[in-house]
Amino acid sequence: MKKAVIFDLDGVLVHTDRYHYNAWRILTDRLGIDFTQERYDSIRGLSRMDSLERILALSSRQFTQEEKEAMAAEKNEAYLQRVRQMNPEEVEGDVREALKGLREKGLLLAVGSSSKNAKLILERTGLTAAFDAIADGSMVRRAKPDPEVFLKAAALLQVAPAEALVVEDAAAGLRAAKAGGFQAVAFGGDAAGSGLADYEVTRLTELLELA
Ligand code: BG6
Ligand code: MG
Repeated sequence: MKKAVIFDLDGVLVHTDRYHYNAWRILTDRLGIDFTQERYDSIRGLSRMDSLERILALSSRQFTQEEKEAMAAEKNEAYLQRVRQMNPEEVEGDVREALKGLREKGLLLAVGSSSKNAKLILERTGLTAAFDAIADGSMVRRAKPDPEVFLKAAALLQVAPAEALVVEDAAAGLRAAKAGGFQAVAFGGDAAGSGLADYEVTRLTELLELA
C-alpha cells in the first residue's frame, strides 16, 4: 500500500517532450548536428545544460561557456513560445482521470521535474491544484539521474521514499527514482522497455491498480 505518487512532468503529465525536441532542433539544424528523435530519447529527463552538453558532443566544434549559455537561452525561448500557448485541453482525459482516482483513494500527489519551467506549465494547463507538492529544477542542485528532486518531493509530502511510486518517461528519471529508494513506474519514452522500472504502464489510469 502506497501513500504517494510522484509524477515526472514533461512526457508524463503533458506532451512537452515534443516541444523540447522541436526547440532543440532549431539549434541543431543551424549547427548542422544530426539530432534525431532517437537521440532526444537518450537525453530525456536531463537538465537543460546537461542536455546541451550531450547535444554539442555530437558536433566536432568546441564552444565557449558564453556560447553555450546563449544557446541554452535561445532554446529555452523557443520552447517557451510554445509553452505560453498551452491550455488545459492539452491534458489528456486519462491523466485527469488518474489524478482524480488516485486522490479519491487517499494518495498524496506530487510533481518531480528537472524543468525550471514546471510551474508555468502546470499553471497553463490548470494542473497546479491537482498536486500537494511540486519539486522542480529550480529547487535542486543536482539533476536527474540524481534522486534529489524526488527526495525533495517526498520530503514536501512528508512520506518516505519506500512509501511512494515515481512515474517516469525517462531512463534517467527511473535511475533517479531507484537511487532514491522509490519504486519506479515506466511510462513511454525511453523508460518503456528499459528494464529499469518495477512496473510499466501504457495509461496512467493503470496506476489505480498499483498504488
Ligand atoms: C525535463 C525534460 O523534464 O526537463 C528535459 O525531460 C529538459 O528534456 C529538462 O531538458 C529541463 O527543462 P527546462 O524546461 O528547465 O529547460
Ligand atoms: Mg519526462
